Amino acid sequence: MIPQLFIHDLLSRVDIVDAIDRHVPLKKAGANFIACCPFHSEKTPSFTVSQTKQFYHCFGCGAHGNAINFLIDYGGLSFVEAVSDLAANVGLQVPQESDKTSKEVNSNDVPQSYINEHSTHSSEISSQDLIAVMQTATQFYREKLKVSEKAIAYLKERGLSGKIAARFAIGYAPAGWQNLGEVFPDYKSESIRKLLVKAGLVITNDDSNQYDRFRDRIMFPILNQRGQIVGFGGRVLEQEEPKYLNSPETALFEKGRELYNLFSSRHAIREANCVVVVEGYMDVIMLSQHGIDYAVATLGTATTSLHIQKLLRQTDNIIFCFDGDNAGKKAAWRALENSLALISDGKYLSFLFLPEGDDPDSYIRNYGKESFEKKLKQSIPLTEFLFAEICSELNLQSLEGRAKLVNDVKPLLHQVKASALSLILLNRLVELSGINRNELEELLQIRPPGRKIRKLENLARRQLTTPYRRLIRALIYNPNYSVKLDRNLLVECSVSDEEANALKELIGFIDTHPHLIKKTKLTTSLLTFLQDSPYRSLLEKIESEILEWGDSIDLEVEFLGALEKLQQIHRNRRMTELRSKSLNKLTEEEKRELQRLAML
Ligand code: CTP
Ligand code: MN
Repeated sequence: MIPQLFIHDLLSRVDIVDAIDRHVPLKKAGANFIACCPFHSEKTPSFTVSQTKQFYHCFGCGAHGNAINFLIDYGGLSFVEAVSDLAANVGLQVPQESDKTSKEVNSNDVPQSYINEHSTHSSEISSQDLIAVMQTATQFYREKLKVSEKAIAYLKERGLSGKIAARFAIGYAPAGWQNLGEVFPDYKSESIRKLLVKAGLVITNDDSNQYDRFRDRIMFPILNQRGQIVGFGGRVLEQEEPKYLNSPETALFEKGRELYNLFSSRHAIREANCVVVVEGYMDVIMLSQHGIDYAVATLGTATTSLHIQKLLRQTDNIIFCFDGDNAGKKAAWRALENSLALISDGKYLSFLFLPEGDDPDSYIRNYGKESFEKKLKQSIPLTEFLFAEICSELNLQSLEGRAKLVNDVKPLLHQVKASALSLILLNRLVELSGINRNELEELLQIRPPGRKIRKLENLARRQLTTPYRRLIRALIYNPNYSVKLDRNLLVECSVSDEEANALKELIGFIDTHPHLIKKTKLTTSLLTFLQDSPYRSLLEKIESEILEWGDSIDLEVEFLGALEKLQQIHRNRRMTELRSKSLNKLTEEEKRELQRLAML
């Protein structure tokens, strides 16, 4: 755990413009800096960095965050790595709870050897140490491939060219239990053993005997988004089990985060304006050998939302390519479920199911690139796949079938945030269910049952910015204004209102972190501390709106104006409530209140 105050100090010393400019050259444009967005492909810059507010926002894809988020999302770093990186740049030492005897070294000075000589705690093993180990192991496995006739024969037999094997840094872990001893001289010393175990390359059993995890396997190095080797997939040569053995989860490697080949395929993905997601290492490699360089693979896990988020930052167009069998359909469905909430309008997801018995590897070998690309063009759009799957088990001729259809689609539809996509789903549901649009909307609770006041409020919400939103903007700009807000105004706001709830959350944070707020000289975004909030994406969107606020903004007027609007809403709500009771049921006090409210 890194203390929040440290993060705050760090972010107020770091300049996000510097931090980003090192990776993506920025141009000054008015009050902000701009560039073509590194998270999606575009021709005109919509990626905006605010130096005064220290955050970035892309008006194209919605990427948003501070300097730490940038390093995580762009560089593929973990949170701790991103913080250490930034800290190293400004000469700060990251405090760690376990690190009681704070060392006087700055992480720039960490030696490139495998392990710091003085380290005895495994917690002192740094990612750099682990990366160096993985690099050495990769080299070792590659050397061993060159001298293993058996492994070379296997790869040849599978149709792999030597060139492609080199491009993917494929190697061979020889049979035998302690081969890594050849390249790690102190293989059996406590510190090296710990390091290798942490890297997932060595296993120790009870009597602390150690042996190599990967033995007699073809080795596929897995790179993270910075191009560093963080894990391996290892395949047997014969018919043994398990066919593939992957690195365990380590400090470097998290299966649900990484995608095989994402690092190397970046440029090809942008050029092709799409990415193909396949299941296996060999699929990716064989596609690449045939000139399709824009494929990535999940690592023996389902496609996670993190995977999809990463991909949607690279391209607007994802094609999932799975086997035509039941397992393939299941994998596709999981991918669909994990995508719905992440799709925005303009993003396009589709599914390609290969004929039974083929995977991308065998398909491209059998039929070639052109045929595969033709298949890609015929992939089924997400909406179509969604209804096809749901309807396949239903009889739409029966009333029960149609009712079940609506029931099944409901939870999926609720996840969708993109308005065009939800309209398409809704229209299709109208067609298939035979229920008219209005009734369907009520049934799905997309629209609350029609009480006039609600309708008016909804209309107002669409036409003007709500006071909640305006208050959030003002508080993000300067949290010190929170003292002027009467907390009672927040008590009764409806639970379904996202903006109101986000405001509550923000106020809650401000109230419980006075020390941070006082220190916030408006140089660190408050959102830094609300990364786990359920309202994060809404807050980010709202924060982006203050990018246009120059020095001319009169925050006082803006804040008080919004506050007045909020009070008005409350008065109206209360009046409606009182008026809905019949007059003789009102207490004297309530009558007076109504009178007073009506006067205002
Ligand atoms: N996988 C895994 N562990 C297994 C089996 C599979 O991690 N025991 C992962 C691997 O990433 C593999 C992918 O799932 O590449 C697809 O598995 P599968 O279809 O069984 O293998 P193929 O890619 O077809 O492998 P190959 O062509 O080498 O037989
Ligand atoms: Mn295969």
